[in-house]
Amino acid sequence: MKTINSIADMQAFSNAVRKDGKRIALVPTMGALHVGHLSLMRKAQDMGDVLIASVFVNPTQFGPNEDYKAYVRDTEGDKMKMVKAGVDVAFFPHADEIYPPGFETYVEVEELQKPLCGRFRPGHFKGVATVVLKLFNIVKPHVAVFGQKDYQQLLVLNKMVRDLNVETEVVGLPIIREESGLATSSRNAYLSDEEREKAVSLSRSLREIKKGFDDGERDTQTLVMRGREILSRACIGDIDYLEIRDGETLEDKKSASPGDVAALAVRIGKARLIDNIVL
Ligand code: PAJ
Repeated sequence: MKTINSIADMQAFSNAVRKDGKRIALVPTMGALHVGHLSLMRKAQDMGDVLIASVFVNPTQFGPNEDYKAYVRDTEGDKMKMVKAGVDVAFFPHADEIYPPGFETYVEVEELQKPLCGRFRPGHFKGVATVVLKLFNIVKPHVAVFGQKDYQQLLVLNKMVRDLNVETEVVGLPIIREESGLATSSRNAYLSDEEREKAVSLSRSLREIKKGFDDGERDTQTLVMRGREILSRACIGDIDYLEIRDGETLEDKKSASPGDVAALAVRIGKARLIDNIVL
């Protein structure tokens, strides 16, 4: 596996690959790689001739009181995992090159960035969209792969690519979960054993909503109540949101229909965890 740090080297590499008529697949990450990331990498292998994975803890998508400084950084461990997952090029750019002094251009997907996580993390999706567009301009991938774990992020990036005529295909892949149902996340590392047990109720609560829907319940308030009950039984009180929304536009729904998404964000100890399920 080749490691590239500078933007110019990455662009030169990608230009050469494209000149050879080969397809580039990209998996952008913030590192602290786990089986969720690695499953994206394995599946992305079949989508191109050259597999590039980026690791960049993007400062502009973290709020002032969030975990940018505490976010796990494990460059050597990540490299070993990427080799095993079949990555051809690991791109580790430096923050001062991605955001040089005087940087002032941002991308915003105006409506999709507002609900759900947008309400609790102002500026988050602006930071995500901006850095991903930059990565697309640097790596020039034909296809880029993201996880449905970050459902709203995937919608935001799909919309950005469509609205700005970016010639990268955005692909979303299913959520990888632990046996307990807990969605794998770099932020699970913040959980104590006790908190980890509590966190199992996130996916349980979403499955309860899906079960209610499958049994014929359509009233979103009723469905959400059923999900909330599971969280409160697990003593999870710090809920940013638990909502059912349209699966494409994220509009509020009174009556649920197939393709809608039930999504939640809760805080357990030091971790803010998200999860979702499509109805
Ligand atoms: P990060 O949280 O590192 O996630 C990188 C990619 O892995 C994202 O597409 C995310 O949805 C996916 N992922 C994380 N956990 C997953 C799981 N359990 N199952 C499936 N996929 C999972 O998301 C980001 O980084 C950043 O916002 C980024 C897009 C890199 C921009 O900075």
